[in-house]
Amino acid sequence: MAGAIPGERVIVSFYLQPLRVFRLFLGAGPFFPRNAVAVLLFGDVNAVISARRWWLPARRCRTQKEEFRKEMGSMQSEKVETAKESSGAPILVTGGAGFIGSNFVLEWLASGKGPVVNLDKLTYAGNPENLASVEKNPAYTFVHGDICDAALVKRLFEEHRPRAIVHFAAESHVDRSILGPETFLRTNIDGTFTLLQAARSYFATLEGEARDGFRFLHVSTDEVYGTLEPEDPAFHEETPYAPNSPYAASKASSDHLVRAWIHTYGLPAMITNCSNNYGPYQFPEKLIPLMIANARKGKPLPVYGDGQQVRDWLYVVDHCRALAAVLERGRVGETYNVGGGNQRSNLQVVTTLCELLDELSPDSPVRPHKQLITYVADRPGHDRRYAIDARKLEGELGWKAQESFETGLRKTVEWYLANTAWVESVTSGAYQHWVAQNYDSRETAGAGSRETADAVARETTAGGAR
Ligand code: NAD
Ligand code: TYD
Repeated sequence: MAGAIPGERVIVSFYLQPLRVFRLFLGAGPFFPRNAVAVLLFGDVNAVISARRWWLPARRCRTQKEEFRKEMGSMQSEKVETAKESSGAPILVTGGAGFIGSNFVLEWLASGKGPVVNLDKLTYAGNPENLASVEKNPAYTFVHGDICDAALVKRLFEEHRPRAIVHFAAESHVDRSILGPETFLRTNIDGTFTLLQAARSYFATLEGEARDGFRFLHVSTDEVYGTLEPEDPAFHEETPYAPNSPYAASKASSDHLVRAWIHTYGLPAMITNCSNNYGPYQFPEKLIPLMIANARKGKPLPVYGDGQQVRDWLYVVDHCRALAAVLERGRVGETYNVGGGNQRSNLQVVTTLCELLDELSPDSPVRPHKQLITYVADRPGHDRRYAIDARKLEGELGWKAQESFETGLRKTVEWYLANTAWVESVTSGAYQHWVAQNYDSRETAGAGSRETADAVARETTAGGAR
């Protein structure tokens, strides 16, 4: 995805350092003669336009930083007030009721960046409760619908005339993609295609500033790059695609569609490929929230295979900040890798979680929680290691993860312990069926992984999927 789009104004890296200093000036106060300095330094009117776009986020950054320090749940009234003040064209978010999407919507509204329209199908992974705190916020609109519904998507563009689209909606769980890949192809590929087509038609109607500023941000994953050996360098933006799971293949396909729409139709899109996220509101089918939920109930903590697979963990709010930076200042047509620089084996993650739970739940009858760790049959085709080289994002846009793995994990465990009602509400009914489907046939550690998948597939075919 590297390489500029024809006609795009390329900012050479030579400019980047002065630009950052310049941005500091711009954020310094309302009396600084920003436009004059912009023309003086860069000698063109576009620079003034960019400067105005840059100045606004820089100014908001101060409020944002203060807000990020507080817990999300304790600041709802401020969020509503800030969001009410905002006006202008909304951004259209897809999948905003899911894990990363809801964190993004909350952060976006909290920092007063403008209105949000959230299109979400509310699959098992989408929970309107995640956004209960902004439900009555006039800057927030929820639309219950499917990204594959071309008529609906077209109508949303026409009615809301968004200034950007941030596309999160996806089927996102590798294990589910192994047991039932169909919905992954439909939502991740067809859904992205539908959005691209609608965005393209809409973009063709835009003129002037609305056209210049329009962006399509496609949120993707590092899993498109495949797997790394222990000594391999981390994934960078030029790493060839080599997806291994049905999930990764569907996301890779969607990335390729976005790339093609940029190059063929000139759609002003950007792609981000991010490493494993963790944090509040993550559905307890993914490693970290699943382990916390099981540990709380004294259930086994199922570690696949030898537990030595490595992931590069990123706190979700850091991801949301990266997305906002790419949306506001990223170069059209570019890919940005987002990662926390926190490579940990699964066993390390689970062990650290157990230690945190021992500390934070001193009265738990299952202390030490480590005793719950259970090795189970491996995931078929399990990628051994992911690691992200995020230097492009850091160098160009000045983004850096603010949360270390230790601080982020502690916050996350505290959040789950404080929000047991949320966990209970999302883990009823269909969730129990999923747990049985995914874990019952894994019970014997060392069982061949493909055999396990075959057994589960037979069960799925016989009993019907979730
Ligand atoms: P999630 O599964 O928690 O949420 C997905 C959301 O999309 C849900 O709200 C769901 O209801 C909605 N959705 C699903 N199908 C839909 C459809 N057809 N129409 C409309 N809405 C639909 O996912 P997440 O973890 O928040 O991931 C969000 C995005 O980020 C995904 O595109 C994923 O590939 C990407 N990503 C995730 C991670 C991670 O660690 N979670 C890492 C890198 C990239
Ligand atoms: P997951 O959270 O599903 O994310 P991804 O597959 O996208 O990386 O899994 C993270 C790692 O944890 C992955 O290597 C699989 C492993 N894992 C387990 O060992 N046990 C589990 O029960 C789950 C859900 C995952």
